[in-house]
Amino acid sequence: MKIVTVIGARPQIIKAAALSRAIKLHYANEIQEVIVHTGQHYDENMSQVFFDELDIPRPDHNLHVGSASHGVQTARMTEGIEAILIKERPDFLVLYGDTNSTLAGAVAAAKIHVPIVHIEAGLRSFNKAMPEEINRIVCDHCSTLLFTPTQAGVENLMREGFQMDNDGPFNINNPKVWHCGDIMYDNSLHFAEIAEAKNNIISELGLKGKDFVLATIHRDSNTDHPERLSAIFNALIRLSKECLIVLPLHPRTDKLLKTNLNEDLQKQIFNSLNIKIIPPVSFLEMIALERNARLVMTDSGGVQKEAYFFKKPCIILRPETEWVEIVETGNAILADADETRIMEAWCHFEERPPMTFPEIFGDGHAAEFTLEKIISSKVL
Ligand code: UD1
Ligand code: UDP
Repeated sequence: MKIVTVIGARPQIIKAAALSRAIKLHYANEIQEVIVHTGQHYDENMSQVFFDELDIPRPDHNLHVGSASHGVQTARMTEGIEAILIKERPDFLVLYGDTNSTLAGAVAAAKIHVPIVHIEAGLRSFNKAMPEEINRIVCDHCSTLLFTPTQAGVENLMREGFQMDNDGPFNINNPKVWHCGDIMYDNSLHFAEIAEAKNNIISELGLKGKDFVLATIHRDSNTDHPERLSAIFNALIRLSKECLIVLPLHPRTDKLLKTNLNEDLQKQIFNSLNIKIIPPVSFLEMIALERNARLVMTDSGGVQKEAYFFKKPCIILRPETEWVEIVETGNAILADADETRIMEAWCHFEERPPMTFPEIFGDGHAAEFTLEKIISSKVL
């Protein structure tokens, strides 16, 4: 069986490591994987570092699309992916998550009848102003095999008309949904041990024995709106009086800090000894930071879940989340880009740190489960 996997943005490159590893370990005789990198992310520390560190095979094709408006970027990717699918003639196209690379793959494959496997299917924020919400709805509805990490994902798909008890053969009009656990949980378990041995970021940053908050911000709904970005950074300034903050900065945010924050706020941030702004880090470094942090504050989908995997409280800098379970269990708080709510959430977790983290992301073998189903599914 031949599969083509499309990746492009940082979190997809990391996610792909789980499936590629499982193919190499258990299914090398059954599955040939062809990897397409769209080039959506291209800085060394947003792309290459993950191939070097996570043992992901080199991409067989790189479309080098780079940054552009949604329409231009997605169109360039769609054209490139279509050409590759026609040449490679795979049995399946594998797509991850909800980026523009996912959308492009979905549109390209569905129109020329290449069955799509969607990993991280069924997640919804119910906020169609997010580009990701559009991307994931389109991808789910173009897919043949849908693998959803959570029970909420199953329920969302059922609400949209997907069946859970249908039989094969499967196709775009008779898609199959599986609840399989989270491949990023697989990855976090696998790489946590390696991260322990293989990086020095905690000592390099002088964090040994220190309490710190780990923060990441990159969502366009925060970075592109001066009032929202200012509210988040005002909260970080207040918080930095109580605790050291480490902020690996996404390139999008790096660019927009300079235009969307006033000079006074920029000065406070860049002069603060208690806010360490650093370039994006590798995944092993990120795991080390997450495991050693007192609390995580983020608008990232992946980072809020990893906070949960490593049993850290999380303040989510968004009005809603696709990962509703971590809020329902009380381990994360939705504070939006609201200075007061962020500080209240901080105080809440200082007084009542979460103690229990029920297993809601599977058993760490989502990748193997997914591959078994891909191999055994009758698709027509
Ligand atoms: C994208 C995804 C988002 C995901 C995020 C992960 C879409 C619509 N959004 O958002 O869902 O959470 O990736 O990080 O697909 N840039 C660089 N170097 C790079 C990459 C980007 O400088 O290697 C800068 C460029 O100025 C670019 C901006 O970041 O315009 C945004 O990049 P883009 O890939 O369009 O969106 P993200 O915000 O990264
Ligand atoms: N990540 C990383 N280095 C960083 C920031 C994030 O390796 O400097 C990892 C993080 O651990 C998670 C993934 O990137 O696995 C999340 O990506 P991001 O926050 O860019 O996107 P999202 O998950 O919101 O789509």
